[in-house]
Amino acid sequence: MALRFEPIRPEFGARVSGVTLNLGISDPAFSEFRRALDEYSVLVFPDQPMSDSQQIDFSRLWGPLEPTKGVNPASGTFFARQSNLDIATGTIISTSDRRMDYQRGNYQWHADSTFKRIPSLCSILTAREVPSEGGNTEFVSTRAAYEAKTEDERRELDSLTVEHDFSVSRGRVGFKFSPEEAAHYPPVWHPLVQTNPVTGRRSLLIGAHAAAIVDWPAEKGAALLAHLLDRATRPELVYSHRWQVGDVVIWDNRSVLHRATAYDTVNRRRLMQRTTISNPTVLETPAYRQIETRRLSIVAS
Ligand code: OGA
Ligand code: MN
Repeated sequence: MALRFEPIRPEFGARVSGVTLNLGISDPAFSEFRRALDEYSVLVFPDQPMSDSQQIDFSRLWGPLEPTKGVNPASGTFFARQSNLDIATGTIISTSDRRMDYQRGNYQWHADSTFKRIPSLCSILTAREVPSEGGNTEFVSTRAAYEAKTEDERRELDSLTVEHDFSVSRGRVGFKFSPEEAAHYPPVWHPLVQTNPVTGRRSLLIGAHAAAIVDWPAEKGAALLAHLLDRATRPELVYSHRWQVGDVVIWDNRSVLHRATAYDTVNRRRLMQRTTISNPTVLETPAYRQIETRRLSIVAS
């Protein structure tokens, strides 16, 4: 069967068929996937169940994996678990447990790992257990959001730097890091506008972790970030993925935002396992070099 990409929305997303990921992927097929991610931003592979080691092998094709650190229950592995299940016992965690407050952070629109100095290229999420209702993952395109701006607006956006801060984003849902935990996540800077090196198309790096515009008064920066997010995430622009066990979804963290939708965390089980591919080479681009020079000059003064 031939590899096929069926678009999901006009702006982004494609459903991929004609491949069995666990049978190994030829170089030409992988080149097609890589090209498709640049074009579609979200790739849905229905019914491709993977073991942990198969997910790791598949993920490594895309680039270096981020190790999971800190508060996520899968800390110390290459997986991030989005789940209401205790990692050791497999039983449902009480809603008042701090770990569930942490999970609720994912109900906010975000791109993964923007609170890290080295940003992420893409994430790969596999559905292991899904609730009968709710627990979708929703996506919007920040490339479409950028491209909808006028030329003057784009010129201003192109010049801005954003501070991303994990303590701020988890704080928005009432989750507080201990001082030791917070020390793992100092605020970091990224260009607001990201340029895809293959297509040249631009997108906005915004979402829950975006806390401030560098050099702007706090209120003015927060207002612009809230406005951009609001425009980008209008309901008619959303693709909501209803999971089946065995689905694999890959998204480009440079050009889409995503969020989890609510589900009955008391009576239903959900286990999603993510690998995150990092994008260290972007730090060599002029936009990132400029930011780093600026940051170092401030640290030194
Ligand atoms: C993630 C995430 C959303 C979900 O894995 O990065 O935000 O629906 N997941 O679990
Ligand atoms: Mn996420």
